[in-house]
Parts: sequence; structure tokens; C-alpha cells
Amino acid sequence: DRPMRLGLAGLGTVGASLARLLTTKRDAYALRAGRPIEIVAVSVRDRSKDRGVDLSAVEWFDDPVALATRGEIDLFVELVGGSQGAALDSVKAALNRGIPVVTANKALLAHHGVQLAKLAQRKGTTIFFEAAAAGGIPIIKTMREALRGNDVSRVYGILNGTCNYMLTRMEKEGIAFEDCLADAQRLGYAEADPTFDIGGFDAAHKLALLTSLAFGCEIDLESIFIEGISSVTNEDIEAAAELGYRVKLLAVAQRTETGIEQRVHPTMIPAHSALAQVDGVTNAVAVDTDLLGSILLVGPGAGGNATASAVLSDIIDAANGVTMPTFAVDPANLVPYRKARMRAH
Ligand code: NDP
Ligand code: HSE
Repeated sequence: DRPMRLGLAGLGTVGASLARLLTTKRDAYALRAGRPIEIVAVSVRDRSKDRGVDLSAVEWFDDPVALATRGEIDLFVELVGGSQGAALDSVKAALNRGIPVVTANKALLAHHGVQLAKLAQRKGTTIFFEAAAAGGIPIIKTMREALRGNDVSRVYGILNGTCNYMLTRMEKEGIAFEDCLADAQRLGYAEADPTFDIGGFDAAHKLALLTSLAFGCEIDLESIFIEGISSVTNEDIEAAAELGYRVKLLAVAQRTETGIEQRVHPTMIPAHSALAQVDGVTNAVAVDTDLLGSILLVGPGAGGNATASAVLSDIIDAANGVTMPTFAVDPANLVPYRKARMRAH
């Protein structure tokens, strides 16, 4: 069978893990995709870095836009990051050619998802983004596919691995905020600019995507109340523990009588609850629905292989010819957003 020719922009934490997996598990993925998946072109800033994988036979670009525009590719995988510049321009370039896109970039989609979805629709192609919310947890496909018969009243959880890793170590090992952050960066959990993690913006980006899928409404980043963990101290966490609570950065979207409310903020959660047990880089997403009651998905929220797992599911879908609207806005279900305030969970 003709291989699926993949153009891979970015060989950092996620991109390099993906490239290694596509090499080591090549035969298994070919079976699951119905044809071989071959990386034929890549782009990076620094070609001299060791990526832990032999890519000597592929075409190398410095500019993701050049890769998306000139690469002999069937699928463009964007693992560069950032809501502007190279990521935005390259994704647009690929969609303009009618090529499907796989991305893990929640910042890009939270800011430009509506515009990119319309472009994909006009060009008859698809943007896949399983890795863009809660890392390896298959929450996008769950919302898009498995929960389609349900009406969702609330989606909430722990959506940032870096913050949860930091809060856990601050509590359990008494380690200082800055040292926990440095470790999260070294382990590849944090964004290139970690302000996105500790400021709550990354969780807000993910929440905006989940809200759109949960309620069938357009993404609205602006209406999210956002408070990160920058001002949470070891003493705060200790005091919460003495009262029987654990501090988590929670992201919540819920239907209210006056509209959909979205918020991200540190929250004291009863220590015995399921969410409070979620430690380290693990994420958790709870969905309340009319038919199922409550479900909770828990799993790795960041890291190379965990995120590559989600990216691979999209690549295999694309190879199998799966197409879908990126964000299906249901006109019958349009509920206005309301500006959220912080409140207890
Ligand atoms: P990294 O910073 O580790 O890697 C980014 C890659 O993009 C690098 O290979 C870098 O090149 C390349 N790059 C960056 N800017 C440019 C540019 N202007 N032109 C060309 N190449 C560029 O990021 P991650 O792998 O951690 O993240 C990638 C994406 O996945 C982001 O959108 C992130 O939010 C998302 N994500 C990350 C997760 C994680 O756990 N790390 C989890 C879920 C999503 P070079 O290597 O030469 O510097
Ligand atoms: N920086 C993000 C996190 C990566 O820590 O959750 C996964 O999206």
C-alpha cells in the first residue's frame, strides 16, 4: 500500500518521542493504519541537536511554513507550539493545500480554532487535536464520539500536569515552588514559556476546547476567569491539609441558568475525594451528563510518550481516512457565555 507521507514540524519533547515511536513500532502502526506511516520531512530550529532517532533519510526544513507549503506530504503534524507565528502560519498553509493537520497545540486552537476550523471545512479537510487537552487522556474522542448521545451539564478537572506535579511535590516533599518548576521543565512537562502553566493559561486553553465540544458552542477564551498557582505557597498547602483539603488547580465549565461559566483557579478539595487523589503529572477530567451521570478519566497529562500516544491516535485516524468537523457548533444549543467569578468547587 502507498505509505502515508508525514511532515513533522517540531522535534522537541513530543515530536522526538513521536518520531522514535513511529520508527520502533512501525509495523504495528502500519497494520492499524492500513498502510505504512513514513516521516518524509521534518522542521526544527537547530539541526545539530541529537533527537535520539535516525532521520538521515528525510528532508529537513528550518521553517515549518516551508515544510507545510513545499513538503511532499499527505499529513502535516504541528508540534512546534505557540499561538502565533510559525505554528499558526504553517497550520494555515497545510489547510490551504487541503492537507489534514494533527496538532497538540491548545494555545493555537484556543485563540484561532474557530477560524482554522472554518478554513479546514472550506478546504474539505480535518484538524485533529486529541493531544491538545489533558495530554494522553483520550478526552477529545470521548467527548466527540462516545458521549454524543448525552447532554453535558459540566466538565471539570485537573488539566495542567506541570501545576499538579508542582503542587504534589510542594505538599508531599515540602520542596519550594521554584525548584518544583525547574524539575517540571527538565522533565519536559512545562510549556516553552512556563508562565502559561503556572499562570493558569494553559489550563484555560484546554478548558476552552473542552467547553466547545461539551456544549456545542464556539470557543470563548475571553470569558474564562483565570487564576494560576503563582501565589500558592507551601504554607497554604500545609494549612489546607490540616483542614482536610488538598489544593489543586481546577478548571471548570458548567451550564448555568444564565449561560456557560468557565473558570480556572486553585481550589481546596476534600482530601478523600477522587480528584484530590490525582497526584503528580497526572490529569483528570470529569464529565457530568444526563444519561451517564458522572464519569472520570484519569491519566498522564504531559510528557513525550504520553502526548505522542494521543498524536498517534490522530495520525492513525487520518491514515484511515477519518474526517470530521473540528468544532461542531450546534445552533440549537447556543447558550451565551457568562463572565465567571471565582467560587468554591
Ligand atoms: P518543545 O519546545 O520541546 O519543542 C518544540 C519544537 O519546535 C522543537 O523541535 C523546536 O526546534 C521547534 N520550534 C520551535 N519554534 C520554532 C520555530 N519558530 N521554527 C521552527 N521550529 C521551531 O515543545 P513540546 O514538544 O513540549 O510541545 C510541542 C507542542 O505540544 C506544544 O504546542 C505544546 O503545548 C504541546 N503539548 C506538549 C506537551 C508536553 O508534555 N510537552 C503535552 C501536550 C501538548 P528545536 O528543537 O530545534 O529547538
Ligand atoms: N505544559 C502542559 C502541562 C503540557 O503541564 O499540562 C500538556 O499539555
